[in-house]
Amino acid sequence: MSKIKEKIEYICENCGYKTLKWLGRCPSCESWNSFQEDIKINIKKLNNREINTGNLKIYNLHELESTENIRINTTIKEFDRVLGGGLVLGEIVLLTGHPGVGKSTLLLQAADEYSKDNIVYYVAGEESASQIKLRSERLNINSKNLFILQETEINIIENQIRKNKPKIVIIDSIQTVYNSEYDSIPGTITQIRESTLKIIDIAKKENISFFIVGHITKDGKIAGPKLLEHMVDAVLTFEGEENYYYRILRSVKNRFGSTNEIGIFNMNEKGMTEVLNPSEFFLNDRDDKNVGSIIMPTLEGSKIFLVEVQALCTTLLFGLPRRVVQGFDFNRIQIISAILEKILHIELGGLDLYLNVPGGMYVKETAADLAIAISILSSVKNIEISNKIAAIGELGLRGEIRKVSFIDKRLIELEKLGFKGVYLPEGNRNEIDEKKFKIKVIYLRNLNELLERMNKNG
Ligand SMILES: Nc1ncnc2c1ncn2[C@@H]1O[C@H](COP(=O)(O)OP(=O)(O)O)[C@@H](O)[C@H]1O
Ligand SMILES: [Mg+2]
Repeated sequence: MSKIKEKIEYICENCGYKTLKWLGRCPSCESWNSFQEDIKINIKKLNNREINTGNLKIYNLHELESTENIRINTTIKEFDRVLGGGLVLGEIVLLTGHPGVGKSTLLLQAADEYSKDNIVYYVAGEESASQIKLRSERLNINSKNLFILQETEINIIENQIRKNKPKIVIIDSIQTVYNSEYDSIPGTITQIRESTLKIIDIAKKENISFFIVGHITKDGKIAGPKLLEHMVDAVLTFEGEENYYYRILRSVKNRFGSTNEIGIFNMNEKGMTEVLNPSEFFLNDRDDKNVGSIIMPTLEGSKIFLVEVQALCTTLLFGLPRRVVQGFDFNRIQIISAILEKILHIELGGLDLYLNVPGGMYVKETAADLAIAISILSSVKNIEISNKIAAIGELGLRGEIRKVSFIDKRLIELEKLGFKGVYLPEGNRNEIDEKKFKIKVIYLRNLNELLERMNKNG
């Protein structure tokens, strides 16, 4: 194959900014050391074809017949749900995550399921076939239709796929795949982009589904340009702290389903097992009464998760007060602290404040404001809170407690797990059919009413 090389440009792997000279810092997104060589090619020459509009296909939308997406399912329900109800034929899914989080493990388990009725290829660029065999023995995988391809040259992979037409192909990982027609090394933007373009062509023409594994850089970005995310149909991220044994699979982009859908998995020597009742999972280890802790039902995708909101306020001994926040947006905590100081005259300036969501969940919803305020108040004033009470509500700057959405769904989940009471915004009162719920609802208008209530109950 002749090498195709025309003109060298440099491209920022973070934002895609292009320049003719290598730069240490990107003028567009200001990231350092992000430029990589990008080889510009003449596509016309590559394809050896003239642009011929005579072959252009135009469809009349009205006359087009719609086809239902064909979905392939596994028995791993959480995995299928995050995909939007199963893998769509011809779909390209990018799975990203830090090394060691379990991407290969999860995909090997999914491959085992898929290959019960379909031929599945696992393109192994990172591990040898015998390493994969060892893992599959540990995971108890023994499907007869699962094939390991120990190859990373995309044209060779393509030939093999077009010849044998597997239903599903797993590329582990895109950073190891390369096209020998280009001069750059595997893992560079040129190679990642060209390999992915080739994969898209195969997927759409042959109706083959692909999983592409993509590594994440230190600062959490998918290695390679952002454009990889734009090229694929779905992007799933696999997250998990090293010291926790569970993992969160999240869909951040999905052309065939909703985004922000999450699934929780448990990592052990038998591989990933799905956690079907994650609320219970996040709620263990609580006493009957706790200081600085309350439960909040948070919405993630289409599911409610009960999470514990913990606050610890300690007397400041020297220097500036510390604000350490895990699981929430830091600025939101600053706002809530300011409201508590102003409206309830709580002196937080002389206290160190630590906030945490045990289990490593990150709560983005402002509906968690009330639970945050309660846990801070409980810690500052040493008020015990029953472990059967939860709180939902957004705080306004005037100290008012504002209405939140999806109340019914949240109450149902709370009842299911045996909660006896819940603090809710007054604004939600009309929407709730109280006959439907056994849980005691305490409506609040503002922070003053809340403090009164807490002092009385505590
Ligand atoms: N024998 C084993 N028993 C239990 N866990 C293991 C074993 N071998 C490897 N692991 C775990 O599997 C994980 C590696 O998963 P892997 O699927 O290779 O991750 P990724 O593909 O995301 O880099 C590691 O976190 C490691 O702790
Ligand atoms: Mg791997």
